[in-house]
Amino acid sequence: MGADENYQFSAKAYDILDRTYFRKAATSPRTAVISVLGDEPLKVLDMCTGTGTNAFAIAAARRNAEVIGIDISAAMLQKAAAKLEQEKISNVKLLHMDAANLQFSNEKFDVVLISLVLHEISPDLAGKLLGEARRVLKTAGKLIVVEWEEPVSRFKRIPFYLVKKTEPAGFEDFLNFEMDQYFFQFGFEMMQTIHCDYSKVMVLSKNDHI
Ligand SMILES: C[S@@+](CC[C@H](N)C(=O)[O-])C[C@H]1O[C@@H](n2cnc3c(N)ncnc32)[C@H](O)[C@@H]1O
Repeated sequence: MGADENYQFSAKAYDILDRTYFRKAATSPRTAVISVLGDEPLKVLDMCTGTGTNAFAIAAARRNAEVIGIDISAAMLQKAAAKLEQEKISNVKLLHMDAANLQFSNEKFDVVLISLVLHEISPDLAGKLLGEARRVLKTAGKLIVVEWEEPVSRFKRIPFYLVKKTEPAGFEDFLNFEMDQYFFQFGFEMMQTIHCDYSKVMVLSKNDHI
C-alpha cells in the first residue's frame, strides 16, 4: 500500500484495530511509545500518523511536547481531525504530506515515530521513509518504530492469524527480518526493544554507518 486511495476504506474502520489488539493499556504499544520519551520539551514527528492515535496519546501525556502528525491519506487525516476536535489537546498539528518527501528541515525533531507502516509498504518506499526519518532527526534524537510481532501465546495466535490474512504479501517475511541488521543499513542502531501485545516497540539512534 502507500497511495492515498488504498486507505479510503480502511480509514472508516481503522480504530477497531486498537479496540481489538491494543485495548489493554498496560501492554499496548501506544503506552510503550510514551514510556520511552523523556520529560523535556520535545519536537515529535509522527510519520504516517493515520487516525492520529500515537500523536494524540503523546501530546496528551507530554503537554510540553510539540507533536506533528503527517499522512498521505486525506481520509485518514479527516478521521484524525474529527478525533482531535473531541480531545482537549492543543500541542498537536496534522499535516497532509508524503513521508517520502518531508517538508521539514534537516535535524528538526527530537523524536520520529513510524508506527505500523513499514510492514505494509514496498521495500523501496520503506527505504525512502527511513532516509527521510534519518534526515529530519536530530543527531541525538530517537527513532521509534512500532511493528507487529507474532505472539507466543496460543490464544493470541488466533487473532493474529487475522492480521496475517489481511496484510499484504511479504508481511510474514517482514515479521522474520533480523531488525538490528534491517535498520543498520539505513543508518540506525537498535537501542531497545519492548515487547507488547501483538507488537514490539523499537527505539533506535542514528549511527555513522551511512
Ligand atoms: C496502518 S496505518 C498506521 C497508522 C498509525 N501510524 C498507527 O500506528 O495506527 C498506515 C498509514 O501510513 C500512511 N502512509 C502510507 N504511505 C505513506 C506515505 N508515503 N506518506 C505518508 N503516509 C503514508 C497511510 O495513509 C496510513 O494512514
